Amino acid sequence: MRSITSGELRALYLEFFGQRGHAVIPSASLIPENDPTVLFTTAGMHPLVPYLLGAAHPAGKRLADVQKCARTGDIEDVGDASHLTFFEMLGNWSLGDYFKEKAIPWSWEFLTSADWLDIPKDRLAFSVFAGDGNAPRDDDSFRLWLEQGVPAERIFYLPAENNWWGLPSRIGPCGPDTEMFIITDKEPCGPDCSPACSCGRYLEIWNDVFMQYNGQPDGTLLPLAKPNVDTGMGLERTLCALTGKKTVYETDLFAPILDRIAELTGKAYGQDDDVTKSFRIVADHIRASVFIIGDPRGVTPSNVDQGYVLRRLIRRAVRHGMRLGAPEGFTAEVARVVIDKYRAPYPELGEAAGFIREQLLLEEGRFQRALRQGTREFEKAAARLTGSVIDGLTAFHLYDTYGFPIEITAELAKERGLTVDEAGFREHFAAHQERSHDGAEQRFKGGLADASDQTARLHTATHLLHAALRKVLGGEVAQKGSNITAERLRFDFSFGRRMTKDELAQTERLVNESIQADHPVDCREMTVEEARDEGAIGLFESKYGDRVKVYTMGPVSKEICGGPHASRTGDLGSFKIQKEEASSAGVRRIRAVIGASVDA
Ligand code: ALA
Repeated sequence: MRSITSGELRALYLEFFGQRGHAVIPSASLIPENDPTVLFTTAGMHPLVPYLLGAAHPAGKRLADVQKCARTGDIEDVGDASHLTFFEMLGNWSLGDYFKEKAIPWSWEFLTSADWLDIPKDRLAFSVFAGDGNAPRDDDSFRLWLEQGVPAERIFYLPAENNWWGLPSRIGPCGPDTEMFIITDKEPCGPDCSPACSCGRYLEIWNDVFMQYNGQPDGTLLPLAKPNVDTGMGLERTLCALTGKKTVYETDLFAPILDRIAELTGKAYGQDDDVTKSFRIVADHIRASVFIIGDPRGVTPSNVDQGYVLRRLIRRAVRHGMRLGAPEGFTAEVARVVIDKYRAPYPELGEAAGFIREQLLLEEGRFQRALRQGTREFEKAAARLTGSVIDGLTAFHLYDTYGFPIEITAELAKERGLTVDEAGFREHFAAHQERSHDGAEQRFKGGLADASDQTARLHTATHLLHAALRKVLGGEVAQKGSNITAERLRFDFSFGRRMTKDELAQTERLVNESIQADHPVDCREMTVEEARDEGAIGLFESKYGDRVKVYTMGPVSKEICGGPHASRTGDLGSFKIQKEEASSAGVRRIRAVIGASVDA
C-alpha cells in the first residue's frame, strides 16, 4: 500500500475515471432539493435519481464525483472509532452505459494497480448478492471477480441485508451490489467469519451497485429499461484503511482539527477514553455543522427539520467542549480550522466562512446560557427522583424552556445512571406541536418525491413565485430551499422580516397574472457562464464549464433548474399562498398550492 493524503485520494479517483470517459461533476447540495424522504443527502445517488430512471444527464452517461453526504440517524454513536455524521463519497456512475463487465475490472484495477492505490491483492475480499425470492443470485459478479484472479474463498455470497442497495424508502432505482473489503490484521472471529460480521477483520471500502430495477410502492421490482452502475467509496474510511490508521480521526482530514482542540483545551487526544470521545464528538459535529451551514442551500439552527439536527450537533459539541474545558467561542475557532482544511475542494466554505462562524457563536451562546440554567433544573429533578427515570414532563420542560434536545437530557441522565421516559416526552411534545401541517408524517409519508404532472406544475409555480418575490421585495431575495410534494410547494428564501399582507397579495397576484398569460416554458442547456450572462437566477452551485438546464417562462422568469416542469404556465390553474412564516434567522418560508387544491 502507498502512503496517501485525502487530497491525493480524491484526485486519483477522479483522474482514473476521467481517463475512462467520465465527466467529473461537482458535489450536489447536502440538503436535497426535492426528496421529502430524507433530510440530508445520504449517498451520491439522491441527486441523480431522475437520471437513474432514464432522464438524460447534461454531462453525459459516464460521471464521477465526490459527493458531500450526511447520515444523522445515529448521532449518539459518534465518539466511537468509526461513526461519522458527515463524510465524502467518491463515486463513478454509468447512466445506462456500461455495466458489471466494465465496473468490476475497473474497480479491481483502481484498487490494485501500482499506478493507482496499489493495495496488495491478497488483502482484498469481496461480497456478491446471494439471491432471494425477489432477484436472482449475482453469478456474473462472482465470475468477474474470479476472472481478475481473486480466489473463490475470498468472494462471499451474502443476502439482501448486506448486498442490496437503494433509497431508504425502497422506492426507485435499486439492485444487487458487490462490496470490496480490506482484510485487516485481526484474526478471523470464528469459522463463519465473513464480511457480514462486524468483528473488524473486514473493512468495507467500496460498493458497486448494479441498479437494474425500479422499486414500486407495493414492493415489486420492475426492470429498468437500461441498467445503471452507482458506486460509492467512503473517503474517510478508505483513507484510514490505506494509511493503516486505527481510526478515521487519525487521518490527515482530522489531524489539524484535533490539534486545534488540544490547543484550546490543554488536553491531549488519547489521554483517556472520555477525553478521546469528547475530542471526536467536537471534531465530527463541528465539521458536519460547518458543511451544513456553509452549503449553498445551507440552513441555520432551528427547531425543525435540518435546522433541528444542526442544533443537536452544535449543542452536543458544546457540551463535550465544555467537558474538555474549552473556552467560550471555541466552536468558531474549531470551525476556522475545518474551513481551512476544506476550502480548496469546497470553495463555498471559504465564501461563507464569516457566516458559518457567526452562526456557531450565536448557537453556542444561546446554549451556554440555557445549559447553565437547565443543568441546575436537571440536577433538581434528579435529586427529587425516587426511582431512576426522569419523567416525560420534566424532559419536555427542559426542552421547551431551556432548549435541551431530548437526546442531551438522555445523555445527561445516562451519565448519572438514570434514564428518561422518552415516550412520555414525545406525548407532551406532540400535544404542543400545533404546526402539524409540517409534521413528520406529512413529510415522510410520500416516499420518493413523485414526478407526476402536479409536481411538475408545482416546480413551475415555484419559479414564478421566486420571480414575483424578487419583484415585490427586491433582488436580494434568493432561494434558500425548496420542497415539493404532490399537494403543495414550499419555498424558503432570504429575507429579513415578516411579509406584509399587501406584499403577499401582490406576490400572489403577480404569479396568477403570469399563469393567465400562458407563457410557454422553454428549456435550454448551456454552460454556467452563459446562464449567468443571460441573467438566469438559481443556485450557482455548479463549477465553471458545467452544462446546466435553464428554464425560461416568457419575460417573467429565467432560472437554472433540473426540472421537471409544465409545458405552459397556463397549465397551473390558480395559485394561492397558504402561509408565510419564519424558517430560520433571516430566512422566510412560503407554502402555496395551485389548481384544484386552491379551493380544497
Ligand atoms: N450508493 C451506494 C452506497 O452508498 C454506492 O453504498
